[in-house]
Amino acid sequence: MADTEIKKGLAGVVADETAVSKVNPDTNSLLYRGYPVQELAATQSFEAVAYLLWHGELPTEDQLAEFERLERSLRPLDDRTLALLDTMPTQAHPMDIVRTVVSQLGTFDDTLHRAGGWTDPELDTGRSVYLFAQLPTVVAAVQRRRRGLDPISPRDDLDYARNFLWMTFGEEPDPVVVDAFNRSMILYAEHSFNASTFTARVIASTTADLYSAVTGAIGALKGPLHGGANEAVMYLFDEIGDASRVKGWLDAALAEKRKIMGFGHRVYKRGDSRVPTMKGALDTLVAHYDRQDIADLYDALESEFVERKGIYPNLDYPSGPAYHLIGFDTEIFTPLFIAARVTGWTAHIMEQQASNALIRPLSAYSGADERHIPGYVPDTAEV
Ligand code: CMC
Repeated sequence: MADTEIKKGLAGVVADETAVSKVNPDTNSLLYRGYPVQELAATQSFEAVAYLLWHGELPTEDQLAEFERLERSLRPLDDRTLALLDTMPTQAHPMDIVRTVVSQLGTFDDTLHRAGGWTDPELDTGRSVYLFAQLPTVVAAVQRRRRGLDPISPRDDLDYARNFLWMTFGEEPDPVVVDAFNRSMILYAEHSFNASTFTARVIASTTADLYSAVTGAIGALKGPLHGGANEAVMYLFDEIGDASRVKGWLDAALAEKRKIMGFGHRVYKRGDSRVPTMKGALDTLVAHYDRQDIADLYDALESEFVERKGIYPNLDYPSGPAYHLIGFDTEIFTPLFIAARVTGWTAHIMEQQASNALIRPLSAYSGADERHIPGYVPDTAEV
């Protein structure tokens, strides 16, 4: 296969169609079901955006109210999930804990107990809402456990963002924080054929169940070249310390050929369309918590890196420090991304199943030429 063109990392390969979102790097735009993500972040709740991603249209008032009722009723954790959490080391990486819990949630679904019929559009819509409702309760419990605190039960009088923050911190959140958090969830919700979504679609294409596809997607999201970058950005901030140290730190980092987390993107080469909205949310948090030092470090690293390399920040760059200011542990940042992206993953899983073709590409072999085990004499039947 000497003349086969190999697209390393599938870069530039159009693997299928999708109606869920459109990324246009030329116009620097991202549309969810046709709506610019900035407009959704400025005007909608995360619940409404989740509905949009699954159903293709924003909900009417009645549809939203019905969806919210269902979502709120599905928030509490099963005792078996609380027991499972207690079996895992408190300081195990939260991505590993959440991945394990999602896998367990699949075992509660008795429609999956027998092989076959694992994909069903109606059941999968219900399973998607279930995961959407459960994940904040799981992530908040994991965050509290890391701090030696008991989980806080969900409240059905609070919307998604307020309830998530309530369960994590045990106090009514300030509207500034709610707004920034809601925006981050919307911005993280969907991004076409990124690595974790593609993983989910590969698994769905085998007609395995939705929980298996989401569990696999979480594994793909963990890496710092993808979702793990928001956690990694915060380690950079900790390492650099303050704005005055950026130049010296960057000299050394670039000399060592380090990748600077939170910068660069496979598709966007002139800036990530989600960054200005998230940077706006970060600015409101900086003012709210009176942490200009974070903003100074952010600006100094961005301007110095962009000037030297011409590589722009991606969404993880502003969302890392935003989550830090809200008070989450750094290791919880990527699980927050899971809670958001589960909407996009499940929309893609259902889309894949609706017009499925098994995803099974080819490889160009580059190993040893054919060879044989010395002394082996094939059976006559094998010849
Ligand atoms: N720091 C330093 N150099 C970089 C960076 C970076 N963050 N990003 C790209 N480059 C350089 C890279 O070293 C390469 O240089 P050269 O051609 O001299 O070898 C060139 O730019 C092309 O980079 P690439 O890695 O081949 O490009 P890619 O399209 O495969 O990578 C990326 C995209 C996101 C993996 C990469 O930019 C990266 O590793 N960024 C840091 C991790 C990160 O922030 N990931 C989050 C991605 S977006 C949101 C998400 O998925 O959560």
